[in-house]
Amino acid sequence: MATAAPSAASRIAVVTGASSGIGAATARQLAAAGYRVVLTARRKDRIEALAEEINAAGHQATAYALDVTDRAAVDEFATAFRSIGVLVNNAGGALGADPVATGDPADWRQMYETNVIGTLNLTQALLPKLVASGDGTVVVVSSTAGHGTYEGGAGYVAAKHGAHVLAETLRLEIVGQPVRVIEIAPAWSRRTSSP
Ligand SMILES: NC(=O)c1ccc[n+]([C@@H]2O[C@H](COP(=O)([O-])OP(=O)(O)OC[C@H]3O[C@@H](n4cnc5c(N)ncnc54)[C@H](OP(=O)(O)O)[C@@H]3O)[C@@H](O)[C@H]2O)c1
Repeated sequence: MATAAPSAASRIAVVTGASSGIGAATARQLAAAGYRVVLTARRKDRIEALAEEINAAGHQATAYALDVTDRAAVDEFATAFRSIGVLVNNAGGALGADPVATGDPADWRQMYETNVIGTLNLTQALLPKLVASGDGTVVVVSSTAGHGTYEGGAGYVAAKHGAHVLAETLRLEIVGQPVRVIEIAPAWSRRTSSP
């Protein structure tokens, strides 16, 4: 993630899924790099505690409870900003490990809603604010599951392929605008919960 001091116009970084794992770690790193970090997730107590920790360390963070699948709430959230420098679409994860033959359609739907529509919601709502910064960055946290497949993972794999395609297509569509698109595709780690 960014290590150079951010410019005044791009000081705000929004991180989704900041209540645990990769999102919380990313928020800490961005704050240490000088961004004013806006922590979002559904578990308000956890992002509030993380904001307190970051502020106590002399950096800047605020917490905002947000479900990325709730488009009205996302649009309301976006009205708080004139411009932002960084959006990290990290909220997501895997549900179930059943084969295609017996997988639960509700799990598949929820994974698509969170990993793909959630990313779409935040990106659409905040893209004008990223453009307004003159130097914006959209990060999509996909997965190695967005670039291959594994048995028992089809629902998650399909969703992460969706997130990958969103990032690839957005990059083509906004050529010439001052926003870069970065996809990060972590491999599975035992220390966190999603492959
Ligand atoms: N860990 C890995 O090995 C790995 C590998 C590849 C890709 N990834 C991807 O990396 C990202 C983070 O994974 P992680 O391992 O750090 O998982 P994690 O610890 O389970 O964190 C997932 C985060 O997503 C948030 N979230 C889930 N649904 C949400 C919703 N509807 N609205 C808002 N926030 C929501 C959760 O917050 P709340 O529950 O508080 O809302 C939580 O902060 C995910 O997209 C995951 O697919 C992880």
